[in-house]
Amino acid sequence: MKKNELKICYRTFDSTSELSKADQKLVEKAIEATKTAYAPYSDFYVGASLRLANGKTVIGSNQENSAYPSGLCAERVALFQAGTNFPGVEIEALVITARTKGKKLKTVANPCGSCRQVMSESAMRQNKPFRIILAGEDGHGFVFESFEDLLPFSFKFE
Ligand code: THU
Repeated sequence: MKKNELKICYRTFDSTSELSKADQKLVEKAIEATKTAYAPYSDFYVGASLRLANGKTVIGSNQENSAYPSGLCAERVALFQAGTNFPGVEIEALVITARTKGKKLKTVANPCGSCRQVMSESAMRQNKPFRIILAGEDGHGFVFESFEDLLPFSFKFE
């Protein structure tokens, strides 16, 4: 048997000023999107924003439900909205951010496995990876140039 190793790559930033102006704007949109979250059960307000190649921004926020599994994460709300309203338009970047009630979050919100799988499908649909930025409340964050650095071995029909 052969042992294999996998390398993943990501950047970190201490301040959003280290990002491009376009990405900084996208972070602002994701922060704005947290205000539209419907999260009465978790009090965890997630915002997502997508920059499309046609210049449009698509936002999403988590939408919870008293039947818990019926709710949906912010990233998937945004990605499915883009797929519906802008089919075939390339996604350039996705920002995810979160806040909660009463205290500042120390870390970024890492996307859940299902959202990573949906990111994988969105990137494969357009035959091109898109940048994923996880933005923390205090300005720090992580940048992944491809979903593959977040979800190696994603499921695909091959
Ligand atoms: N949530 C997201 O919106 N995105 C993720 O990737 C993980 C979790 C939401 C779901 C739920 O409304 C709340 O955060 C707490 O889990």
